[in-house]
Amino acid sequence: MTRRAVVTGVGHYLPERVVPNAEFETMLDTTDEWIRARSGIERRHFAAEGETTSDLATRAALAALADARLTAQDVDAIILATSTADLTFPSAATMVQAELGMTGGFAFDLQAVCAGFVYALGTANALIVSGQAHRVLVIGAETFSRIMDWTDRSTCVLFGDGAGALVLEANEGGGTSADRGILATDLHSDGRYRDLLYVDGGVSTQTTGHLRMQGNQVFRHAVEKLAATAETALDKAGLGCADVDWIVPHQANIRIIQGTARKMGMEMDRVVVTVQDHGNTSAASIPLALSVGKVRGQIKPGDLLVTEAIGGGLAWGAVVLRW
Ligand code: UT7
Repeated sequence: MTRRAVVTGVGHYLPERVVPNAEFETMLDTTDEWIRARSGIERRHFAAEGETTSDLATRAALAALADARLTAQDVDAIILATSTADLTFPSAATMVQAELGMTGGFAFDLQAVCAGFVYALGTANALIVSGQAHRVLVIGAETFSRIMDWTDRSTCVLFGDGAGALVLEANEGGGTSADRGILATDLHSDGRYRDLLYVDGGVSTQTTGHLRMQGNQVFRHAVEKLAATAETALDKAGLGCADVDWIVPHQANIRIIQGTARKMGMEMDRVVVTVQDHGNTSAASIPLALSVGKVRGQIKPGDLLVTEAIGGGLAWGAVVLRW
């Protein structure tokens, strides 16, 4: 028997305010056509004034717990993937822990920018497989609207706010790729590329800073690295692209999503796409897509999924899991 981390609940939360591309036409030299054609984004959600990352994360966590028919007291650990925590410390995860009324266990933030959720899945899997935790709440939540330079048309039209969450639970499997749960992970980073995507502020500089990105450079790395990490993760699980029911990619740009699927030899009807409605929500984009994919009836129990993401660092990776 092999201990596996199995998904038993999923949920998401999106802030009320929806901002269509047309709103940017009034403040920047841009068009709805350019944004759609270059990124596939049509609208995104922005958090209300005073609404924080931990608020979004708590709403998503409650939805995932309800889906799993559990309460927060049933959970041993919370991992919150985010680059936009409420405060420098304590972690946004401990704020979620308190909001949920969870008095035991442990909670921490994990920062790997847009790759945050695949890193968090890898970490939760390690905690569960090693027996350090039985149930882990894995959340991706972001308020990237707070780090946008609203005068920079090449970045501010691309990002949005939101949160998604999974409950992962230990389960005994047969040790084959037919098991439910996380079957393989593949994580990478290469800090030599840190200037391609970063925030030009932080605690030591006494500023929050704004996101800066050399978009076309990141784009070039993305398709190649995402297809390679997805295929490596599948290989580690003893599987290939032909076995995959759904790619659930990080939702940064429809052209990256299409290019990665093409490189993997997969049709777009096997890819969960939400970028048109959410924009790039960084670490929240994969759990949002998992939750929306389930609500749409795309993702069903027993389906083989591969999730992949790349972002600032550069940091990237993939996770293969059977739903
Ligand atoms: O999630 C983290 C990882 N991030 C990503 O994966 C993002 C990766 N990059 C991308 O998604 C794309 O590179 C972008 C959507 C950011 C840009 O698309 P692109 O096809 O790479 O365009 P570009 O950066 O090469 O720019 C093309 C042109 C430039 O004008 P010139 O120099 O050709 O005259 C830009 O100034 O488009 C211009 N441009 C815009 N025009 C209208 C840039 N932003 C805008 C805009 N509206 N909002």
